[in-house]
Amino acid sequence: MHTPPRFGRSLLPLWSLDPAATYLNHGTVGATPLAVLAAQAALRDEIERHPARMLLREITPIGVQGQPGGAGPDGRPRQRLRAAAAAVAPWLGVTGDDLVFVANATTGANAVLSSFRLAAGDEVLVTNRTYGGVARAAAHHAARAGATVCTTALPFPGADAAALVAAVEAALTPRTRLAVLDHVSPETALLMPLAEMAAVCRARGVAVLADGAHAPGAVPVDIPSLGVDFYAANLHKWAFAPRSCAVLWAAPARRDDLHPTVTSWGSGLGWHAEFDWVGTSDPTPYLCAPAGLAFIDEALGGREALWAHNHGLAWRSAERLCERWNLPWLTPRRMVGSMVSVPLPPALGHGAAAATALKDWLLFEHSIEAQILAIDEALWWRISAQAYNDDEDIERVASVIDSRLRGG
Ligand SMILES: Cc1ncc(COP(=O)(O)O)c(C=O)c1O
Repeated sequence: MHTPPRFGRSLLPLWSLDPAATYLNHGTVGATPLAVLAAQAALRDEIERHPARMLLREITPIGVQGQPGGAGPDGRPRQRLRAAAAAVAPWLGVTGDDLVFVANATTGANAVLSSFRLAAGDEVLVTNRTYGGVARAAAHHAARAGATVCTTALPFPGADAAALVAAVEAALTPRTRLAVLDHVSPETALLMPLAEMAAVCRARGVAVLADGAHAPGAVPVDIPSLGVDFYAANLHKWAFAPRSCAVLWAAPARRDDLHPTVTSWGSGLGWHAEFDWVGTSDPTPYLCAPAGLAFIDEALGGREALWAHNHGLAWRSAERLCERWNLPWLTPRRMVGSMVSVPLPPALGHGAAAATALKDWLLFEHSIEAQILAIDEALWWRISAQAYNDDEDIERVASVIDSRLRGG
């Protein structure tokens, strides 16, 4: 473990980020560190020196055109994708064999939703906070089976963990087969009581697909302790992997019946084979996932130091901004990780169009990338607190917002 760096703007040179801009939206589109991009460039060079050797013999032993993959110089098949999974796994409390790489959280969720055996009349539970793309995928796959999607409203703001768990429990019916639940809620940014939610589902025989798009690298993740059936998570956000890179975990009993949305040569050969080769693609984001996590240890002083900075900045900002704008701050501290959603003064408007207008104004007039969301019509600012952000970034945005409130 290295000495923790001084977090904030002075770390910007570790990224390509424009120093003239304020980037406060790592949660929506993560910024890849230069060190990770360099590792990816080196890998691409290695591939291009002999593309067939790398892609057909080094990445995975899954053969193409009906032949088993070729062996390495030592006569043994190369398993670089599996080695990358093994390096990522400890961050999630699992082993490499428990993981497969997928292009993104959306792809992982779709693999689960398209594989899960639903029958006519079955129900899939989502919440009013489920990420829109995933909710649409649930509706699509449910409809194909004649099943329906039920949406439960999660209380916000001010709900504690017990109220959130109760909302999920109350929405389960004898027909519910699968619940799609967030680890970190995409709009409210709340660190959800996922293990408790999963427990009430399990008690009713309902499988859980956990959406961890915002979790790895942002908050501690120990998948086995969550008691879920499936866990899909991005590494190209908070885990600093190059785009695009995500993992999918499934409970051992679920793996035989879990298939990627793209079927290829690994079909019928087990879930590693099925997911590890979904046709020719660029494997470098997956192979660089370990470099993204190593960046946290080597350049940022380790996960504890990073999370202390991110969480501290997020929490402090929420408290200060609510005081500044005289708005209630109702979120329990343990439900805040590296992101926080803060209410904005009602005078800024309401609804999705007002959110987009404010977001665009911040970017085009002030070079600020900030995530402005309409949650139940009210405007909220979802702050992504990353290593390169500091109090001055927050103050810059707040004073620009104040100028808009003054009609500036
Ligand atoms: C909760 C949640 N799930 C899924 C996604 C989709 O991620 P991706 O576009 O990388 O698939 C997002 C994106 O921000 C998200 O917030």
